[in-house]
Amino acid sequence: MKREQFSSSLGFVLAAAGSAVGIGNLVAFPVMASKNGGAAFLIMYAFFVFFICLPIMLAEMSLGRHTRQNPLGAYTDIGKNAAWRTVGWMSVITPFMIGVFYLVITVWIFGYLGKSVLGQLTELADPSSFGAFINSNELFVYMAIVVGLTFLILQGGVKQGIEKAARVLMPMLFVMLIALVIYVMTLDNAMLGVKFFLIPEFDKLTGKVLNGALAQAFFSLSLAMGILITYGSYIQKNNNIVHAGKMVAGLSLLVACCSGLLILPAVFSFNPDIQISTLSESSISMIFTFLPKIFLAMQADIGYFGASFVASFFFLLVFFAALTSLVSIIEVPVASLMDSKGVSRRSALCVLGGAMIVLAIISALSFGRVELFSNLLSYGGVDKSFFDLVYDIFYETILPLNGFLLCLFVIYRWKKHNLDAEISQGNPSFSGSLLQKYVNFSLGTFIPLILAVIFINTVSTIFFGKNLLF
Ligand code: PHE
Repeated sequence: MKREQFSSSLGFVLAAAGSAVGIGNLVAFPVMASKNGGAAFLIMYAFFVFFICLPIMLAEMSLGRHTRQNPLGAYTDIGKNAAWRTVGWMSVITPFMIGVFYLVITVWIFGYLGKSVLGQLTELADPSSFGAFINSNELFVYMAIVVGLTFLILQGGVKQGIEKAARVLMPMLFVMLIALVIYVMTLDNAMLGVKFFLIPEFDKLTGKVLNGALAQAFFSLSLAMGILITYGSYIQKNNNIVHAGKMVAGLSLLVACCSGLLILPAVFSFNPDIQISTLSESSISMIFTFLPKIFLAMQADIGYFGASFVASFFFLLVFFAALTSLVSIIEVPVASLMDSKGVSRRSALCVLGGAMIVLAIISALSFGRVELFSNLLSYGGVDKSFFDLVYDIFYETILPLNGFLLCLFVIYRWKKHNLDAEISQGNPSFSGSLLQKYVNFSLGTFIPLILAVIFINTVSTIFFGKNLLF
C-alpha cells in the first residue's frame, strides 16, 4: 500500500504546529516565564528552541521521511539489531503513555469548556470545584466525547483527518488567541502585566531555571515522542524540511509569546498588587483554579453572559490546542501498529483506543477515588499515584533518554552523510552550509551530552530524592 502523505509543506507545518502548540505553550510557558525572569527567560527559551531543539527536529523529520516508517520501523530498518529495535519500541510506548496523561488533562479542559458554556463560573471559581470535578462521574461523559472526537479525526487518515483538522483548528486558534490578547489589553492595569513579562531579569536565570526552560522547549516542540518521525514519514520528498522545521519552531514560539501577553495582563488586571511568587507553580492550578477566578471577577464589568463568553472562548482555544496535540501523539502507536502488522487504521484505532481508555480511566481514578491507584507506590520519599507514575517515568525520565538515543542513532548509526542527503532533498543549498555543519556537530556532541546529564539527574532526583545538579 502506498504511504499516505500530507498534501503540501503547509499541510505538514500546520499539523506539526498543531502538535507543538499545546497546553505547554498556552499555559506552562507564561507561568514559567513570569516566575523566572520574564524576557530573560524568553530569550533563553528561544535560544534553546533554535539551537538545541531545531537540530533534533530536523533529525526526526528526516529519519521519518527517509524510512517512510513509524519510529519502531525506522529504528528497526536502519538499526538492524535488537538493541535499536528496543529503542524503537520505547519510542512508541512513550507517546502512547504520554497520550494517556495528556488525554486526561484534555478531558479536564473540555469539562471546563462545557461548564463555562453552561455559565457555571461561580462554581468553577470555587477552589474545591477542581478536585470535585476530576473525581466526578460527569468526567467520564466528557472523556467519551474527547475520545470520540480524537478517533474521528484519526480515522480520516493523514490528509482527510490529521491535516484537515489542523487546517481548520490552527487558523481558528491563532485568530482566537489574537482576539483574546487584544481584549485583555483593554483591561485596567493590563500594561503592568506586559511590563512584567517583557522586562528581563537576568539574575533569575539559575541552572535550575535553564534546565526547566530546556525541558519546556523540548516538550513543547513534541520532541523525542516519535511524533515528528511519524509526521515526517508523510512529508513529500520535494518539500523543504529545514524551512518547515523553522516554521513549526517559530509558530510554537510565537504562540508562547502571545500567551504571555494574554495570561499576565489578565492576572495583573485582576490584582495589580499581585506578588508573582504567590502565583501557582503548576500550569494545572493556573488553568483550573486561578483563571476561573479572573473570569468570575469579569462579571462585574461585562456581566454574566460576557464573562461566560470570554471563559468559553479561552477554554475552547486551549481545547483546540490540546486536541491537535493529542491527535499527533496517538497517531504514533496507530501508525506503528498499521505498519508492523498490516492492519487497517480502524482496527489499529480500536485496539489502541481500547487500551488507552482503560489506562486513562485508571489515571482518572487515581486522584483519591480508588485508593490502590491513588497511592500506588512510594519512591524518592514521596507517595505516588498511577497518574504520577506515568508522568514521572514517561514524561520526565524517558523523554530525555529517547532524545539522547535519537541523536546517537542518527549521527553514529544512520550516519551524517545520510542525514545530510535526506535534508538536501528539497533543499539543495543545505549541503555545505553553516547550518549543516552546526546540525552535524551539535547532534553528535553537546546535544546528546546535555540530554544525558538531564536524564541522569532526573532519575536521581525523582527516584532517589537526590538532585545532583542544583
Ligand atoms: N507540545 C505540546 C504542548 O506544548 C505537548 C504535547 C504534544 C504533548 C503532543 C503531547 C502530545 O502542550
